[in-house]
Amino acid sequence: MKSKILHTLFFAAALTAANAFAADPIVIKFSHVVAENTPKGQAAIRFKELAEKATNGRVKVEVYPNSTLYKDKEEMEALQLGAVQMLAPSLAKFGPLGIKQFELFDLPYIFPGKDVLYKVTQGPIGKSLFKKLESKGIEGLAYWDNGFKEMTANRPLKNPQDLRGLKIRIQPSKVLDAQIRALGGNPQPMAFSEVYQALQTGVVDGEENTPSNIYTKKFHEVQSDMTVTNHGYIGYAVIVNKKFWDGLPADIRGELEGAMKEATEYNNQIAQKQNDQALEDIRKSGKIKVYELNDQERAEWRNALKPVWKQMQGRVGQDLIDQVDKEAAALGYK
Ligand code: LMR
Repeated sequence: MKSKILHTLFFAAALTAANAFAADPIVIKFSHVVAENTPKGQAAIRFKELAEKATNGRVKVEVYPNSTLYKDKEEMEALQLGAVQMLAPSLAKFGPLGIKQFELFDLPYIFPGKDVLYKVTQGPIGKSLFKKLESKGIEGLAYWDNGFKEMTANRPLKNPQDLRGLKIRIQPSKVLDAQIRALGGNPQPMAFSEVYQALQTGVVDGEENTPSNIYTKKFHEVQSDMTVTNHGYIGYAVIVNKKFWDGLPADIRGELEGAMKEATEYNNQIAQKQNDQALEDIRKSGKIKVYELNDQERAEWRNALKPVWKQMQGRVGQDLIDQVDKEAAALGYK
């Protein structure tokens, strides 16, 4: 009898433990480096809301913005080790992982319009890049848009020669390195979280970024001049630890995919608007001179940066560059 009770108690305890376990939500730590009031920051929050609702709380998404959990390089390692489950690094940050083709997106003036960009990210090129992530233990879920980059420094930058001799912070991309060298500048790769202080203390003289990043991180308060160059692009790959993702119950994964699809649409709807607003806010702040290029100056920037394509075609892949050109031509760009 005693042993029967013990038996029953044992099974009851085991059952309770199993229930408690089942009730524990699956936690997705989503780490990123930008402010909440940016396209990526807002889309991450939207994903959290949608994912938690769609899974009835079986999934909990913890969003860590502003590099509060990890900085650029660390977050990639943390994802591969499974310390975080989801990231959305800029496409310029995959080269150090050994996937240099992502630097296609860094080629100056590669996208004549956002319509070409979307064709690329949502078509075969986008898919083939995600495929390359798998051998690194990473799965690509979506591309999130941000916008075109402007140049800032502590001197007016009307002509490309104005960058000569300046130390310019870049993301860790060889294409961006070549880009700054083509302008006679001295490229300094650096984590996003360190840029404000580096600009403030003069460790670097300038940087390139989207208006939403410049405004939310107050770079415009520690730089005297900004030129609306729109010379390059910043966008993101939302990525997950593959083992984690593959190990999710199929129904949960399906709900999360749906939430990601919706969050992506939301991100891409707000990206341009947020950057337009940020540019307006930077102008209104009165803290930095904002210079608009005239047609001739714009052509000079383009010419000065054109050699980067040839230099980097071996790294990025001429086939990929040709495919982007084809998409652009199909959309009526020359
Ligand atoms: C940067 O490092 O400048 C950007 O990639 C930051 C970001 O995530 O937009």
